[in-house]
Amino acid sequence: MTTRKKLIAGNWKMNKTSADAVALVSEIVAAVGKQSDVDVVLCPPFTSLESVGRALEGSTVKLGAQNMHHESSGAFTGEISAAMLRALFATHVILGHSERRTYFAESDELINKKVLAALKNQLRPILCVGETLAEREAGSTLKVVQTQTERCLEGVGRDLAPSVVFAYEPVWAIGTGKVATTAQAQEVHGFIRGLLTKLFTDPVAQKVRILYGGSMKPANAPELLAQKDIVGGLIGGASLEARSFVDLVNAATAVV
Ligand code: 13P
Repeated sequence: MTTRKKLIAGNWKMNKTSADAVALVSEIVAAVGKQSDVDVVLCPPFTSLESVGRALEGSTVKLGAQNMHHESSGAFTGEISAAMLRALFATHVILGHSERRTYFAESDELINKKVLAALKNQLRPILCVGETLAEREAGSTLKVVQTQTERCLEGVGRDLAPSVVFAYEPVWAIGTGKVATTAQAQEVHGFIRGLLTKLFTDPVAQKVRILYGGSMKPANAPELLAQKDIVGGLIGGASLEARSFVDLVNAATAVV
């Protein structure tokens, strides 16, 4: 099996002023800013990207955004382009998060445009997929994940596919304290890897990192991260505090 470096990403959502963000980043950098066993990405709100980017200079920790518009510029009030993110030295962008899908009506078609625009601008999309509780209970988890995956990746070539990071985030596990069991998570991760094999061939699929997201905490991370196809985590609540986030990075280091 290809060795895939684990990745721990913090999605701060709509939290922290720029000053609060810098304080948190300084603690994280002091603890894990020199290690390179695990990739670490921090995704603050747009308003903190510049200050967090500056605080990350000279460290191994990378910068990501939580969203972007797919057009390169123009009359799109309130929006931010891929080029603007690149100019702030962002390397990653979260796309298709379930909160964007639910509260801002983002469709797979729109997310697909964003994925293509991100890749065109050398940004790595952290593409989120996942089922709601009703969909899981109806037995349609794999179908939902398949549709999201195929539609969001439309037009992505084999050459760029390994730049996409996947995040499987069961909607019912986000911010609820209900974590998917390792078997539930591994099943979907393995399924996504199988889909990627069909779409892009096995060597390409083996390179893609698939993160788990949904109430991941230092206590449940070691078991999840030990699963064959779980190559890291996209962390919400536990990324807002240096101690728990650093513990998660250390948990990933321990299973490298
Ligand atoms: P929680 O870790 O707070 O459940 O959030 C997960 C998430 O949505 C990360 O994108």
